[in-house]
Amino acid sequence: LFSRPAAFLRGARVIGDLPPPDLPEVAFAGRSNVGKSSLINALAGQGDLARTSNTPGRTRELNFFDLDGRLRVVDMPGYGYAKAPKAEIARWTKLIFQFLRGRVELRRVYVLIDARHGVKANDEPIFKTLDEAAVSYQAVLTKVDKLKQAEVAKVVESVGKALAKHPAAHPHVILTSSQTGQGIEELRAEMAAFALA
Ligand code: GTP
Ligand code: MG
Repeated sequence: LFSRPAAFLRGARVIGDLPPPDLPEVAFAGRSNVGKSSLINALAGQGDLARTSNTPGRTRELNFFDLDGRLRVVDMPGYGYAKAPKAEIARWTKLIFQFLRGRVELRRVYVLIDARHGVKANDEPIFKTLDEAAVSYQAVLTKVDKLKQAEVAKVVESVGKALAKHPAAHPHVILTSSQTGQGIEELRAEMAAFALA
């Protein structure tokens, strides 16, 4: 799947800009600054594929990346908080929900959760939207390098509990660090299962 470099395909600012749904897709969603773009770079092994920043609100479009003509990866803007004009945040928040509700080729949404913070109230609307649309999603803890093992175990348990009541949530929580590479192979293998043969 990653035998050829991933390629940027398109950035969509509004729902009318989406590429035609002609390949299976997986999307990376999560609160602002949780590490979505960094994780995509780590998965692709290409540090400069998706733009990252210390400042929440870096990604402002739905960015589509092509993997070998077999799978598309979607880097999404964050939700919850961001340093950006209110109208911009409103535009991309609407875009996120429209996309998650209505994208026919969407096979799985990885909902990234900062391992230091766990599930927060502002993750719930995303869970609810995906449950209602019957889109399969899975929690991915990010930045686990910042925690001790015992702390990681606790947050895995609490995230598992928070998701147990959600019908479209996959029960397995993936632990990752874009910095150390932990969990990257596991996530790659899971994504590969959604790609065209
Ligand atoms: P928005 O596009 O603004 O919503 O953010 P994002 O979710 O795409 O986050 P991004 O990848 O831009 O990363 C945000 C910050 O977290 C950057 O400063 C990254 O270097 C840092 N970061 C991301 N992943 C990790 C990780 O696994 N470990 C550590 N220690 N830092 C990380
Ligand atoms: Mg980003």
